[in-house]
Amino acid sequence: MRIVSGIQPTGNLHLGNYLGAIRNWVKMQDEVAASGGQSLYFLADLHAISMPHVPADLAANTREMVAALVACGIDPDKSILFNQTQVPAHAELQWLLSGTARMGWLNRMTQWKDKAGKNREGASVALFTYPVLQAADVLLYQATHVPVGEDQKQHLELARDIAQKFNNDFGPKDENGEAAPVFTLPEAIIPPEAARVMSLRDGTSKMSKSDPSDMSRINLTDDADTIMGKVKKAKTDPEVLPGEAKGLEGRAEAANLVGIYAAMAGCAVDAVLAEFEGKGFGAFKPALGELLVAKLAPINACFIELRQDRAALDAILRAGGERARALAAPTLAATYEALGLVRG
Ligand code: TYM
Repeated sequence: MRIVSGIQPTGNLHLGNYLGAIRNWVKMQDEVAASGGQSLYFLADLHAISMPHVPADLAANTREMVAALVACGIDPDKSILFNQTQVPAHAELQWLLSGTARMGWLNRMTQWKDKAGKNREGASVALFTYPVLQAADVLLYQATHVPVGEDQKQHLELARDIAQKFNNDFGPKDENGEAAPVFTLPEAIIPPEAARVMSLRDGTSKMSKSDPSDMSRINLTDDADTIMGKVKKAKTDPEVLPGEAKGLEGRAEAANLVGIYAAMAGCAVDAVLAEFEGKGFGAFKPALGELLVAKLAPINACFIELRQDRAALDAILRAGGERARALAAPTLAATYEALGLVRG
């Protein structure tokens, strides 16, 4: 098993990232280490330049994100933790795959449509080709499994399409004319619950770093008072909670808060509802706030300590980058060769 996944260092780690992806990263890191496999987790800093950004903020956020991931349980001795910039093979492979990726495939990406909005002419070329870099990120390491939240599923399917077409078109042929694959087809691993955590202000849009309102998300760096305040002000409805999940249909905000509770408590939505059936949000919100504070406080304390030590954070990235470069080299070489590009 080879696990690969990434996160953009464009701001704070929030509850959506944690429940949708990072918690799974930690779980899979241990499983994979026990089975002799390898996990690689990286900061997608090259992806971050596809949108307008402030260079000094990107550098600071990259280090903060390393501290946040380690505080969540990513262990740099068990996993390879690095930023894309340290492994030029990501950008090289993106170019090599650009001859295989089709305009039509990229045009269908919902994230491209959402982020470019009506201003496609003014969007960066990087925003359009972003999913090709994402495909390179995982194909470069022959990833077998990619733990992500629901919103990345389409990008992963594209990576599989690119890998399949490349293997068919350029995989070296054996004596029977069968193409040997250059790339492994990666599988997305999406958690059964909280795969899509929604905004606290609007149950129809996902919790996101780019939402201008900080009240829309719980950051892993929020202190106890901030968390309690955000949960208290979260949008809800005047109904009481039903006895089973079916009763939450059409109640996006209520379903989101109950889903967060279930994911944090490690139980099913029905179990949460069995406990709170007939109660209103006046009773549910303080219980949710306290659960969040209890679970996030240790992460928060660890993050505050780690973020002080810039030299240690840089050392983690440097060591991870070196290991990742070594793992990337054979696939990059095989890709150049399959394409007939002579490296001398
Ligand atoms: P990013 O930085 O937006 O998010 C990182 C991870 O968090 C998940 N996530 C969520 N899950 C549930 N609910 C939410 N509201 C929520 N918001 C974010 C995302 O699904 C993701 O798993 N393009 C990627 C980064 C990337 C990548 C890769 C991921 C670059 N290369 C290769 C996997 C493999 C992104 O912008 O994620």
